[in-house]
Amino acid sequence: MAALHTRLTELLGIEHPIIQEGMGPYRTDHLAAAVSNAGGLGTVSMPGMTQDPDVGARVLREHIEEVATLTERPFAVNVPVGRDASGSVLPVSEAYIRAVIEARTADSALAGQLRVLTTSAGFPGEFRALIRDAGLIHMHKVGATAHAKKAEAAGVDVVIASGYEMGGHTHTSPVHTFVLVPNVTEAVSVPVVLSGGARDGRTLAAALTLGADGVAMGTRFIATEDNTDWHPAYAERILAAREGDDAVFPAVYGPARGLRNAGVQRLLEILDNGELQGDELNRWKDEALIRAQSTGDVDAGIMAAGQVASAISDLVRVAEFVPRMAEEAAEILTRLAAATSPARV
Ligand SMILES: Cc1cc2nc3c(=O)[nH]c(=O)nc-3n(C[C@H](O)[C@H](O)[C@H](O)COP(=O)(O)O)c2cc1C
Repeated sequence: MAALHTRLTELLGIEHPIIQEGMGPYRTDHLAAAVSNAGGLGTVSMPGMTQDPDVGARVLREHIEEVATLTERPFAVNVPVGRDASGSVLPVSEAYIRAVIEARTADSALAGQLRVLTTSAGFPGEFRALIRDAGLIHMHKVGATAHAKKAEAAGVDVVIASGYEMGGHTHTSPVHTFVLVPNVTEAVSVPVVLSGGARDGRTLAAALTLGADGVAMGTRFIATEDNTDWHPAYAERILAAREGDDAVFPAVYGPARGLRNAGVQRLLEILDNGELQGDELNRWKDEALIRAQSTGDVDAGIMAAGQVASAISDLVRVAEFVPRMAEEAAEILTRLAAATSPARV
């Protein structure tokens, strides 16, 4: 079987340059373990930005410990970094960062596996030294080249460049994957991971061609047999989605992309008539998201998903899908290299 070795596989100690990204507020424990066991990098997701910080940190810690019982391979945790009106990092984001560090300090075997912290949304500049000194590999997700440069200057180890077509919280200023990724790979020298719209070996090969060292995906991994933390009705909606079935709506800390349904329609009404505001509104959004995942309320709940949902039509097993995706990318790159070889002219 052809293998793909990149700076990402080297740095993280994984077999395939394929990452399952954080998908909070949903639970992704079994999925993360399945992806890590398949040779990629699974990610534990945060349990919600409207959680009480102490409760949220405790739940995140339980998820981390659960994943460590399901895999012996490396895995990551994702923490979105929100800020309040005065610019301070939200207490819940700080609590999550500290929970990751404390989980490592408390258990050296776990520390060997929990190697990566992926931050997203805002950049946690004031926690950068803490993250580095804790021995974590720091990946940071950006939607703009300027943010990638800023993250590199602050010392992050890997930049995830995620295009506007991504599922979940997306970016205020829309730059799509095919423009963003080569811009970012030209601008920084740390490894870059393409995110937003990846789904198969062709997209992994394309990512490497654009100068990236791997891909990260959210939506593709929802429609997997291993995603046992989620109600199957959610995956069924991903499989049924067609181009144009997605919508961007205001979420907890910026715009988010999901599948258009009655839940999104209801959110737009609430925003329009001002029925709920502030914390109450954010809690409504988090609950609507969690209901879709846990009870399969895919009509009145809210389903975060990317545009790539329109291209996903099969439920796959992670153990087969991840190595097959890497193999397909390697085959494509080998075929293209042969097609351009001087020996043929
Ligand atoms: C259901 C869902 C929930 C998400 N939640 C988060 C999150 O908590 N933190 C985060 O950084 N990104 C979140 N995202 C974005 C993903 O981490 C990832 O960047 C995105 O899914 C990549 O694009 P794709 O959906 O086209 O694969 C979420 C995406 C989805 C689909």
